[in-house]
Amino acid sequence: MARSEITAVKAREIIDCRGWPTVQVDVFVDGDLAGRADVPQGRSTGKYEAHVLLDGGNRYFGKGVRKACHNVNQEIAAAILGMDVTEQRKIDGAMIDLDGTENKSRLGANAILGVSLAVARAAAAISRLPLYRYLNPTARFLPVPLMNCLNGGKLTANELEIQEFIIMPVGAENYAHALQVTTDINEALRDLVVEKYGILATNTGDEGGFATPMRGIWEPFEFMQRACEKAGYKVGFGEDIVYGLDCASSHWFDSSRGVYVLDGLDYTREGLIELYKEVAAKYPLGSMEDPLDEDDMAGFAKITEEMPQTQIVGDDLFVTSVERLKLGVQRNAASAMLFKVNQIGSLSQALDAAEFAYRNGYGVQVSERSGETEDPLISDLVVALNSGQIKTGMPVRGERTAKHNRLLQIEEELGNTARYAGHDFHRPH
Ligand code: PGA
Ligand code: ZN
Repeated sequence: MARSEITAVKAREIIDCRGWPTVQVDVFVDGDLAGRADVPQGRSTGKYEAHVLLDGGNRYFGKGVRKACHNVNQEIAAAILGMDVTEQRKIDGAMIDLDGTENKSRLGANAILGVSLAVARAAAAISRLPLYRYLNPTARFLPVPLMNCLNGGKLTANELEIQEFIIMPVGAENYAHALQVTTDINEALRDLVVEKYGILATNTGDEGGFATPMRGIWEPFEFMQRACEKAGYKVGFGEDIVYGLDCASSHWFDSSRGVYVLDGLDYTREGLIELYKEVAAKYPLGSMEDPLDEDDMAGFAKITEEMPQTQIVGDDLFVTSVERLKLGVQRNAASAMLFKVNQIGSLSQALDAAEFAYRNGYGVQVSERSGETEDPLISDLVVALNSGQIKTGMPVRGERTAKHNRLLQIEEELGNTARYAGHDFHRPH
C-alpha cells in the first residue's frame, strides 16, 4: 500500500493559450513526481459552471490564480497527504467536503480540478498504464473530431454571433485519416476566404477556426460546402462529411426582450428553431450545441423532438452536472451532453455525469475549453469514455494540436483493437 501514498502536492501558476494564468498541479507518490495536470478555462462560460477562483486586483488584470495555488499547497495538500492516490473518488470527495460550498467557490474549482486530474495521472503512472487504459480497460473508440472551421461569438473579433461552424469527418477510415481530410478542407477553405476577403481574413480565433468577417448563418455554410467540394469530399449523412454548430446562443439571447438577435434580426424561440430547420434541410447537420438559451429546457425539448436527425448537445445547458442533466432527462431536452471537466470541477463528478448521460440514452461529446494549454488530457478521457466524439479545435495551434497528436499516439497504441467511431459518433458502443 505504501507504494501509492500521496507524499506531496504542489500547484503553480502557469499561462494558457490566451496568456491568462491558470493552475498546474504536481502530485508526488512516495517522494517522486508521478502526475501533472493543467486546468483548462473558458471564455464563453455558462452561468451554472463551478466557480473559478481568481485573485482580483491589478496583477494580470485580476485573473491571477495565486490564491487557488495557495489553497492547493496549503489546505488541500494537508487534507490529502497520506491518501492512496488510486482512490480518486475518495480524494475528490475529501476536497469537495473541505471546500464546503455548492459551486467550489471557497477553494476554487480550478484548485480542486487541478489536483483531481493530477491524481488520476499519478494513479495511472504508478499502475504503469496510459491514462485512458487505466480509466477503462475496454477503451477502444477513437472519436470523430468536430473541427471548427469558422469561429465567431466570444472566441473571435468578428460579427458572427454563432460561435463555431464545424465539419465532422465521419467517413474517414481512422483518426489519422480524419486529420488529413480536415486539413485538405481547411486549406481549400483558406483559398476561398482569401479570394473573397483577402489574406487578413485568415487569422484564426481561439479554437483555430478562421475569424472571417462573415455574417449570419448562411454564408459560413456556403463556404464550408464549397471548400468540401473543392477538396474533393462528399457532404451528406453516410458520406465523408457532415456539419456541426456550436451556437452558444445564451451569449446572443437578449433576455430583457426575450429574443435572439442574429445578424441584426430578432428571432423568437420558435422563429430560431424554424431557421435551424431550414439550415438542416439544405445542409446535413449532424450535431448542434446550445441552439437555445441555457435556461430554456422546454425549448431544448422542442428542438430535440423537431430535429431528430441532428444530435442536440447541451453545453451551458448541462455544465457537465448530474443535477442539471437530470432536469434535461426529465424533459427529453437534448440528446447529448458536452463534457468539460472544469465546468463541474472534479474528475469523479464529470465521469458520473457521463455515466448518467449514457444510462439515459444520451451521447457524450468531450470538449476543449477556449483557454487550453499543451496538456492533452482530454484525449485520454475521450478514449476512456468510448464517447465517439471530441471537440478540440482546428489543428493549427499548439494547444489544439497537442490533443490531436495525442489521439494519433493512442490510435497507434491500440493497434487493431482501435475503432474509429465514424458515422456512429453519437453512441458508438
Ligand atoms: P469556452 O468555449 O471554452 O470559452 O466556453 C467553448 C464552448 O462554448 O464550447
Ligand atoms: Zn459551447
